[in-house]
Amino acid sequence: MNVFEAVRTRRSIRKYLEKPVERDKLLRVLEAARLAPSAVNRQPWDFIVVTDPEVKRKLGAAYPRDWFVNAPVIIVACANPAKAWTRKDGEEYWKVDVAIAMQNLVLAAWEEGLGTCWIGAFDEQEVKKVLGIPREIRVVAMTPIGYPAEEKGPVVDRKPLEEIVHYEHW
Ligand SMILES: Cc1cc2nc3c(=O)[nH]c(=O)nc-3n(C[C@H](O)[C@H](O)[C@H](O)COP(=O)(O)O)c2cc1C
Repeated sequence: MNVFEAVRTRRSIRKYLEKPVERDKLLRVLEAARLAPSAVNRQPWDFIVVTDPEVKRKLGAAYPRDWFVNAPVIIVACANPAKAWTRKDGEEYWKVDVAIAMQNLVLAAWEEGLGTCWIGAFDEQEVKKVLGIPREIRVVAMTPIGYPAEEKGPVVDRKPLEEIVHYEHW
């Protein structure tokens, strides 16, 4: 699968098979996140891999959805803002850096036949409590990973290029 094909066909998966994710596939997916670019190459990220059913159940307090809790793997993507680059005007890049790494992970997973779903609507303090994440670390995103138990067609519901691309000026 080439990159464009992965981008075109990747969808958010909210139903997973019980089938476990092979370790080599999981490592390849994490490797894709590791190789992501980041501002000034600061790599201000940490990823927590959760497979223990009891820990997943506890994470349900932060995002109470059965399809999330019961997915074979949950990845929690964290940022250390103190390690990340900050622009002169104060703009912080940790969220951008981790988002790029997550998208690498999501596309690499899709290539392996694995579904994901970016989760943003979680209770951050609850995630931190359950996983023992230090106070200075931020939780940027979570995603379940597993073999899809639903079929979705390619991405269609996006704004047309004419609406979003501007040439030479706004
Ligand atoms: C930053 C971000 C946060 C999201 N948060 C959630 C979420 O909390 N729960 C959920 O089910 N989907 C979440 N999604 C998935 C979006 O709903 C989904 O990507 C969008 O509807 C497009 O559908 P597609 O991914 O199948 O192309 C999130 C996506 C992004 C990029």
